[in-house]
Amino acid sequence: MNTVILPVNEYSLGQSKKIICGGGAVAFPTETVYGLGANAFDNSAVENIFKIKGRPNDNPLIVHVHKDYDLSLLVKDIPDYARALSKAYLPGPLTMVFKSCGAVASAVSCGLGTLAIRIPSHEGAQRFLEYIDLPIAAPSANISKHVSPVTAQHVYSDLNGKIELILDGGKSEGGIESTVLDCTGEIPLILRSGLITREMIEKVAGRCEQYFLKDGERARSPGMKYKHYSPNCKTMLFAFNELQDALYEYEKSNAEGVTAYLLCDDKTAQIAAVDKVLKLGKDGEEMASNLYYKLREGEEKARLIIAVAPENQNGVMEGVMNRLSKACKNS
Ligand code: TXA
Ligand code: MG
Repeated sequence: MNTVILPVNEYSLGQSKKIICGGGAVAFPTETVYGLGANAFDNSAVENIFKIKGRPNDNPLIVHVHKDYDLSLLVKDIPDYARALSKAYLPGPLTMVFKSCGAVASAVSCGLGTLAIRIPSHEGAQRFLEYIDLPIAAPSANISKHVSPVTAQHVYSDLNGKIELILDGGKSEGGIESTVLDCTGEIPLILRSGLITREMIEKVAGRCEQYFLKDGERARSPGMKYKHYSPNCKTMLFAFNELQDALYEYEKSNAEGVTAYLLCDDKTAQIAAVDKVLKLGKDGEEMASNLYYKLREGEEKARLIIAVAPENQNGVMEGVMNRLSKACKNS
């Protein structure tokens, strides 16, 4: 199969509709990362997404809709706090999990009885969703476990030959996946941290809790238990106060002819003063925006990425650290 990259316009949207309505998959831009979308009502189209990505079939997909889509067609029992959060932050990088009406294909939610809904703010995503006017089940458009894509070129390098069309909407500025919030209980529960932070949710909903997977417990969000976001090279992760150890590894590895790059925030890069460095930025938003882009750049250039965690790990940085520690797991 020949994979083409097209800008979002009338022609490419027409092509997208043909592909989606014919049971195929199209990659499209969002403000977080690129998605690989299929018609959420079409079970075999959704199953095909799992095959294309090599995704475990117990890890459910998020359903994407345009901003005027009637959610009551898909989910029920939307609590007041979720309505308030929608008003405050949607369209945007917040995914909410509700009880499903059972309207979408069973493969979407892997039998959970709940459905994750996302209304992306990216203009290209909104145009795509409005034009198709169907709920679109879409995971990130990468091969399972690999770093999520933030450009059309990233999608191409993972999925070339496996899909027909990639809509190009430029670099995804958010840079890490949406916050996933379970809205089936009395208090919203963060299943995956992201750009909509706990503080932002508390401000609107009053209360909010963070879900942590305990040993031996069945994952509430099945994605949590898998290795993720990993570059195709070796990685190491050091705490912010272990910079000297990180630099020791950097020197040793490069001296042995194994090209190593340091991946860290701007402040740490300045202190480290080495030439092979992937700088992530100065604050949480910048670091989120650059993380996957730099991990992908790193795997092109390096045989070893030596990451140093930032000192501040609150707010958006919580999402950055969550991705960084999973990316640097070597198992
Ligand atoms: O920003 C994003 O959310 C991107 C873009 C493309 O929208 N999508 C994305 O999808 O990150 P994916 O498939 O890579 O991650 C979806 C996450 C997984 O951790 C999955 O377990 C969780 O959402 N999830 C999906 N449906 C769920 C449900 N019904 N209950 C709990 N967790 C769910
Ligand atoms: Mg993903």
